[in-house]
Amino acid sequence: MSLQLSERPLLEAEAIQKRIAVLATEIGKEYPCDLLVGVLTGAFIFVADLVRQMNPDIKLAFVKAESYGCSDTSCGDVRFAGIEKLNVKDKRILVIDDILDTGHTLNALTKVMQDRGAISVKSCVLLDKPSRREAPFEADFKGFIIENLFAVGYGLDYAENYRALPAIYTLQEK
Ligand code: IMP
Ligand code: MG
Repeated sequence: MSLQLSERPLLEAEAIQKRIAVLATEIGKEYPCDLLVGVLTGAFIFVADLVRQMNPDIKLAFVKAESYGCSDTSCGDVRFAGIEKLNVKDKRILVIDDILDTGHTLNALTKVMQDRGAISVKSCVLLDKPSRREAPFEADFKGFIIENLFAVGYGLDYAENYRALPAIYTLQEK
């Protein structure tokens, strides 16, 4: 099966920036947090744009999600490289990912943060694909709800391709 990029973006760069400005305002009002934790690699552009619309005093860190024992999607066993260096004890944490799909990644990350003594852990995702959920997880802040499509661009990849596209496209069978 070969895949090709959709002709038109699913989400234009301008629409993404507008939505991020609204999200940043919502987060600022509803959840004063001590530390933002981005999930690499997919969330790197989203985090960069979101933090520049937030309180400039905000602290920022990244962890890298690594899934074991499964192929192209995540599964129950997700580990987070870099988490051992993070001090989350007694902090209000906001975890940020590019997309919420099966829910395994953010479900696992939230539990790890809680086990390490965070006061509270909330989450923010740019995209949400609720139809794909396997783990019981809902994000507190979400940019766009999308159908069961494979999204690329704006940080999201397919086999490490397409991350640098400024808009979000879908991959379709040729
Ligand atoms: P989850 O653990 O299944 O919720 O998956 C989250 C991770 O899977 C995301 O951080 C992405 O890296 C990857 N992912 C899921 N759906 C897509 C997609 O449509 N495009 C690109 N990456 C995706
Ligand atoms: Mg990811």
